[in-house]
Amino acid sequence: MQPILETRNLSKVFHRGSLLSRDRIVAVDRVSFTVRRGEVFTLAGESGCGKTTTARMILGFEHPSSGEIIYGSERERWHPRVWFNQRIQAVFQNPFETFNPLRKVEGYLFETVKHYGLAADRGKAVELINSKLEAVGLSYSEVEGRYPSEFSGGQLQRISIARSLLVDPSLLIADEPVSMVDASIRMSIVNLFRRLRDELDMGILYITHDLATAYYLGGQIAVMFRGNTMEIGPVQEVLVNPRHPYTQLLRESIPEADPKKKWRGRISIAETEEEEYLRTGCKFAGRCPKAMDICRQQAPELYDVGGVKVKCHLYADKQKEVS
Ligand SMILES: Nc1ncnc2c1ncn2[C@@H]1O[C@H](COP(=O)(O)OP(=O)(O)O)[C@@H](O)[C@H]1O
Ligand SMILES: [Mg+2]
Repeated sequence: MQPILETRNLSKVFHRGSLLSRDRIVAVDRVSFTVRRGEVFTLAGESGCGKTTTARMILGFEHPSSGEIIYGSERERWHPRVWFNQRIQAVFQNPFETFNPLRKVEGYLFETVKHYGLAADRGKAVELINSKLEAVGLSYSEVEGRYPSEFSGGQLQRISIARSLLVDPSLLIADEPVSMVDASIRMSIVNLFRRLRDELDMGILYITHDLATAYYLGGQIAVMFRGNTMEIGPVQEVLVNPRHPYTQLLRESIPEADPKKKWRGRISIAETEEEEYLRTGCKFAGRCPKAMDICRQQAPELYDVGGVKVKCHLYADKQKEVS
């Protein structure tokens, strides 16, 4: 499948704290992955692992500290100039923040049509907007004249997706798009992503802390921890047969669908996020049940473990990934 977006050693450093005690946090640490047409690529991991920062760099909201973002066949080295490409569209976590409560929802759709010059007159604009709303299971007549408060979170998220479809993007970036949507309609939105992938041949960069929806969407996955991609490979392989101890723990922490089985709880937060970011060696060593001495001293490299890339000293006998 044709690559749409590639990151190579993409990094972002933030400085935090006061002038006297400044911490340097590598929020995204040499992250490399490829998103392809007609495929979902998932960035998964707990809150604070660098998922949104990665998306923000791709969208041009944040300048990478180093590394490259390659869009399609064009190589884009980073310039201070904001790079924006209409072939990339984004949908964010909170639909209630996307829409101003005092503005009619249709205003956003017409604004996008106007901004990109997508229709010659109002009639054509309505036609285009209606077709995109239909693609997400709504219609213009259901939206016309209404305010955000008149819709559910799930409906607003659909409208937000319809708006992104107006420009016929080849890549949709969805940052936790269902985490604030009622569980009962979560799957219908995830199904919508599957349809967009298959029917429009779109690439989707899906960001989530929920492995179940990632599994359902298939494709490729990168499991992130404190800025690092701990494991990258086909979703099926990574989630069914996780190689990295972090992926293994993350999978265990998925709530069981069976109410009789006990919810095992989230991974215990043994250290603060800050301490983990500042660790030398493997960022996960403080929580890892398989940690060895070397893990606390030296950051592991990525190893190829049967077609899956794993950043873990347990696999030091395997072939190193060259970046
Ligand atoms: N503008 C910023 N300045 C300083 N630190 C930031 C900034 N944005 C994000 N961070 C930090 O970078 C880390 C990764 O954040 P983020 O990318 O939002 O993670 P995620 O989306 O996986 O929850 C966190 O420790 C966060 O506090
Ligand atoms: Mg985030």
